[in-house]
Amino acid sequence: MSTDAIVLLKEDHKEIRRLFKAFQDAEDGPAGARGKIVTQILEALTVHTYLENEVMYPEVRKLVPDVEDDILESYEEHHVADVLCFELFTMDADDERYVAKTTVLIENVLHHVEEEEQEWFPKVREALGRNQLQEIGQRMLDLRPKAPTTPTEPKALKKARDAVVA
Ligand SMILES: [Fe+2]
Ligand SMILES: [Fe+2]
Repeated sequence: MSTDAIVLLKEDHKEIRRLFKAFQDAEDGPAGARGKIVTQILEALTVHTYLENEVMYPEVRKLVPDVEDDILESYEEHHVADVLCFELFTMDADDERYVAKTTVLIENVLHHVEEEEQEWFPKVREALGRNQLQEIGQRMLDLRPKAPTTPTEPKALKKARDAVVA
């Protein structure tokens, strides 16, 4: 199995896109089923965002100064998604704003993932060697079991709080 950081993050993106599709298929159905998919979306996003925030982004910022602006924009996009995830986590699936909020979350995340995959991951791949990317990926694999899985855990909230207070 590859430990290349970009390969790993793209695998996460693929799973996140699959969950988004599942939500869109279920959004007009029973609230329970909809809520279950959103719970899975929130878990996938919480883990993925944590690994990017803790490992990928700071590492890339240090090693590839060329993409610094992309990283700063990405932190802000994560922050917006964090707020929406937090709100959804505390809402009932039959709330009248639930589907609308999830739809806005999906639109935001798809835009963000697109920018990662199309705009700056390719620059990172060009700038860093295979070994460096495998090392970064290995660090994310090691950290994954310790990642928060719900948006309200202190570890998950830390970056959102830093973004507001710092
Ligand atoms: Fe991201
Ligand atoms: Fe990502």
